[in-house]
Amino acid sequence: MWFLAVMVVSTSLVSSACSSAGDTAPNEGIIAPAAAGSETYTLGQTVYSTQCSTCHGTNGEGQFPDAPLQPDITGRYGAPPHDDTGHTWHHDDDLLIQIIREGGMGDPVNFYVMPALESVLSEREIEAVIAYIKTMWTEEQQAAQRERTLAVRAQEP
Ligand code: HEC
Repeated sequence: MWFLAVMVVSTSLVSSACSSAGDTAPNEGIIAPAAAGSETYTLGQTVYSTQCSTCHGTNGEGQFPDAPLQPDITGRYGAPPHDDTGHTWHHDDDLLIQIIREGGMGDPVNFYVMPALESVLSEREIEAVIAYIKTMWTEEQQAAQRERTLAVRAQEP
């Protein structure tokens, strides 16, 4: 199950990300957690409650909150939690955007299906829902995910 793989953020990668960023702004394109009461928060919350919550849970607790990381009676895993009990914060911004646009990578025998939503959501809505999901994480998780996003981008050609 790919989504359980814990991705360790390497401190050496992070420091090289900072130094190789040079004069270009390292924060560029990083999705910040939505500030409470902001337009992004309202939009992200609306997208989440209309497009994600039926599967991922009203508050990001997952499809099967009692056993989110266990298969159900059909042998398939449900939609994982997005809150601080889940692993969504292990993924960098670009991967999160890709999953929302193109759908999940789980095979349908072992996983319920994460639909591709690029025909439903605009870029702005995708970014807003990610910014909203980030508000479900602890500050440490937010910081680690931000570092991972920077590290992955630093490795891109
Ligand atoms: C029809 C149910 C369904 C809907 C609607 C849905 N998802 Fe998913 N999602 C899943 C399932 C099932 C998985 C796990 C299987 C996989 O990744 O292929 C998943 C996986 C994911 C993942 C990767 C795993 C993780 O948490 O790191 C992300 C990110 C994600 N969904 C975000 C969203 C967002 C954001 C929305 C709303 C815009 C959404 N999903 C709507 C069912 C759904």
